[in-house]
Amino acid sequence: HAADAFRTDLMTITRFVLNEQSKHPESRGDFTILLSHIVLGCKFVCSAVNKAGLAKLIGLAGETNVQASCQGEEQKKLDVLSNEVFVKALVSSGRTCILVSEEDEEATFVESSLRGRYCVVFDPLDGSSNIDCGVSIGTIFGIYTVKDGGEPALDDVLQPGKNMVAAGYCMYGSSCTLVISTGGGVNGFTLDPSLGEFILTHPDIKIPKKGKIYSVNEGNAKIWDGPTAKYVEKCKFPTDGSSPKSLRYIGSMVADVHRTLLYGGIFLYPADKKSPNGKLRVLYEVFPMSFLMEQAGGQAFTGKQRALDLLPTNIHERSPIFLGSYDDVEEIKALYAAEE
Ligand code: AHG
Ligand code: MN
Ligand code: MN
Ligand code: MN
Repeated sequence: HAADAFRTDLMTITRFVLNEQSKHPESRGDFTILLSHIVLGCKFVCSAVNKAGLAKLIGLAGETNVQASCQGEEQKKLDVLSNEVFVKALVSSGRTCILVSEEDEEATFVESSLRGRYCVVFDPLDGSSNIDCGVSIGTIFGIYTVKDGGEPALDDVLQPGKNMVAAGYCMYGSSCTLVISTGGGVNGFTLDPSLGEFILTHPDIKIPKKGKIYSVNEGNAKIWDGPTAKYVEKCKFPTDGSSPKSLRYIGSMVADVHRTLLYGGIFLYPADKKSPNGKLRVLYEVFPMSFLMEQAGGQAFTGKQRALDLLPTNIHERSPIFLGSYDDVEEIKALYAAEE
């Protein structure tokens, strides 16, 4: 039947979050409004990313745009453009109070007339080295609430990741996928471009307990520390009779973590001799992804402790990170423990 080809009862992300919020009688709909503004940002970036391949034609990345050139204006780089879109969407939601973006040196304190309870930390466009070749990139975000009463302060965002009330990412890949957790599991939504709506396609994501894939920039092997080197050696030359793992590394954290979440395995950005704190940023890369991993039944470890227990002292602080399937992260934890 032709009619059967269409699902008629669509679980959009807004409907899903409204359902979830209705379980909390105290909720005033603020989170739903905030999320709809984040979703708008994701849709905008998705559409801009899809046009990035046409940059030469329409003059996107840094080149002078045909129309804009009349006003002597240059087109903005995609990451700068994405940042502007998210900042404006978040501020105009009227539900935010502090914003921390990878693209901005300083935190943004929202003016009092537009102020709300939520603090949003985000990486507007992650995986920027992959933009020009059309490989998957993404947006990462984490959400805290401000302490009640008093002026908002940087301390409201310098909190351990376990205090986040929600975290998620949107991947601009072969399809546009938004994965989010508000603390009751992980759910994935795919953008239906004809509707302009994110539809629930991956309900209650659970990461496999053990995986067959490891994901790391192995070009840094020369400067790794002992436990990381030992772990990767074991992935390639297992000594317990198991099969070697496959290596997959895209170089976009969102895409590498998304695959890890769905297929299982481990993603590593370890410390090395050049970068003793690794590369990835605690607030808007390490925390949101660690939050999602734990919510999906996996683990996230820094080499010293549970990642979500870290107390950041600086908004752009970095940390080594090992995250993914429960059993795989257990192994790297054992190697670090043996070193002490
Ligand atoms: P960004 O593009 O936001 O600066 O972050 C890129 C990050 C992350 O997406 C990825 O996991 C990592 O850089 C890759 O780093 P290497 O090129 O050192 O492997
Ligand atoms: Mn990034
Ligand atoms: Mn970025
Ligand atoms: Mn960047």
